[in-house]
Amino acid sequence: MSMRSPVHRPWTRMTTVALSSAAAIAMVAAVSLRSSSAAPAERGLTFSNASGVHRTIALTGAIDTGNPFFQELGTNGRTCFSCHRPAEAWSITPEELSARFAATDGLDPVFRTNDGSNCEGADVSTLAARRQAFSLLLAKGLIRIALEVPQNAEFEVDDVDDPYHCGSVFSSIAAYRRPLPTTNLRFISAVMWDGRQTTPLGSIHDDLLEQTRDAVTTHAAGAPPSASQLRDIVEFELGLFTAQVRGNGSGTLTEPIARGGPEALSHQSFCLGINDPLQMLPAKRGACLKGSSGLDPVVFTLFNRWLDADSPERTSIARGERVFNTRTFVIANVAGLNGGPQDPVQGPIASGTCTICHDTPNAGNHSVAMALNIGLADAAQRTPDLPLYTLRHKVTGEVTQTTDPGRAMVTGKWADVGKFKGPVLRGLAARAPYFHNGAAATLEEALDFYEKRFQLGLSPEERADLIAFLKSL
Ligand code: HEC
Ligand code: HEC
Repeated sequence: MSMRSPVHRPWTRMTTVALSSAAAIAMVAAVSLRSSSAAPAERGLTFSNASGVHRTIALTGAIDTGNPFFQELGTNGRTCFSCHRPAEAWSITPEELSARFAATDGLDPVFRTNDGSNCEGADVSTLAARRQAFSLLLAKGLIRIALEVPQNAEFEVDDVDDPYHCGSVFSSIAAYRRPLPTTNLRFISAVMWDGRQTTPLGSIHDDLLEQTRDAVTTHAAGAPPSASQLRDIVEFELGLFTAQVRGNGSGTLTEPIARGGPEALSHQSFCLGINDPLQMLPAKRGACLKGSSGLDPVVFTLFNRWLDADSPERTSIARGERVFNTRTFVIANVAGLNGGPQDPVQGPIASGTCTICHDTPNAGNHSVAMALNIGLADAAQRTPDLPLYTLRHKVTGEVTQTTDPGRAMVTGKWADVGKFKGPVLRGLAARAPYFHNGAAATLEEALDFYEKRFQLGLSPEERADLIAFLKSL
């Protein structure tokens, strides 16, 4: 794999930077070799994380670091690997970004002002300036996504309270979002947090081709790659499966009676609409042949046989899985689900579960493209490091405030403000922070959010079990 770029390098530092990414890949390969020599049955890329160990396998056997995914296809030194790293479950984390910043004085290609900095074209002339310019990337692993207000939007941007004073115009907004993992993609029903790269009818495979083209032209500031490069990248991504394989207390998560880890996941069957509580049958290619017969709330069946295991860590994980599947709470006022007359469900869902929305068997994402507003972008959740947009409905004059309009920037619909997709829940331990805007630094904080939003009323034991389970995914 060539890490050398034919284009002129603005900084001499770039050589070191390129070498360091090459070294990172070499390390990836070395880790892979080490794990396979230690345990011949194991294949793939294995990394440790705060909760244990996670692994990625490729359907094709070896993880092909010669794939264009790891190559510079643009003009700013970036590759897909700049923001999608196997050690971080194919996302990026503040810890690793801080290490990369320190190792390169903030000159690694991830630190580019086209979308890595808080403001476009920020001052990056000194180390101190760079630390400030990339503060959201460093603190929360957030990338700035510039989005135009759609032509016929029902709303306009009335005002923005921008902590960075980027001086943006009201015809567009900056959304600061977490890179979604480029693994376990075989289960996704919508591409991107707001589903903007999902077509109504085409296959997810074809949507990913378009997504890749755009990733190169935007993040990497390049010309569109060739059809064969696009195909190679998408085949590569769709062949990857990532999951936790060891827990600090529980030991292996993949032993005979447990079914954690990427191997089992790679055998998990999926079609769009599988296990959907509303029995929706998407028109998209790749949809299930017939609608599901309603929700089987038991979405995760990885650890149920550990309920009477000898180890307390294992029984805790098994109980946590049961909490996730079947512990009920009231789900009310979720726009897209039961937020108003335009939504498919009228009124509160009295016996809601986590799996009402996280319904894909053993993957945990929403099996249909149905963006939901669970309130993360609400003004009430706003942290001082995020901008707050004031949107005004053009006809009714109604006003709302949000840190990210989400799906509304795709459809232009007022009702879609603050809606995002329910993401895949595997490999969580390796890729904090969570939610589209990195609002939850830990899984504990993610549960704090849910506790407040839905008044779960979890007992301390239920909460500890649920966290142990989420860390084992
Ligand atoms: C500068 C960082 C960055 C680079 C470089 C980058 N991505 Fe991403 N990627 C993101 C962010 C941020 C998102 C989420 C954006 C959103 O949803 O609005 C994302 C989302 C995705 C998704 C969507 C996954 C899902 O579940 O919907 C795929 C697939 C993807 N990227 C593939 C790629 C590929 C392929 C490349 C290289 C051609 C690439 N990315 C380069 C930051 C990056
Ligand atoms: C009403 C639908 C709904 C319910 C119920 C629900 N979720 Fe979610 N979940 C979502 C959506 C939508 C997102 C993405 C939200 C965002 O980032 O804006 C999400 C995101 C998450 C994430 C973050 C994943 C990531 O990659 O950042 C975790 C963890 C999670 N949910 C766990 C749970 C748990 C545990 C429960 C039960 C206590 C639960 N969810 C109940 C819809 C739901």
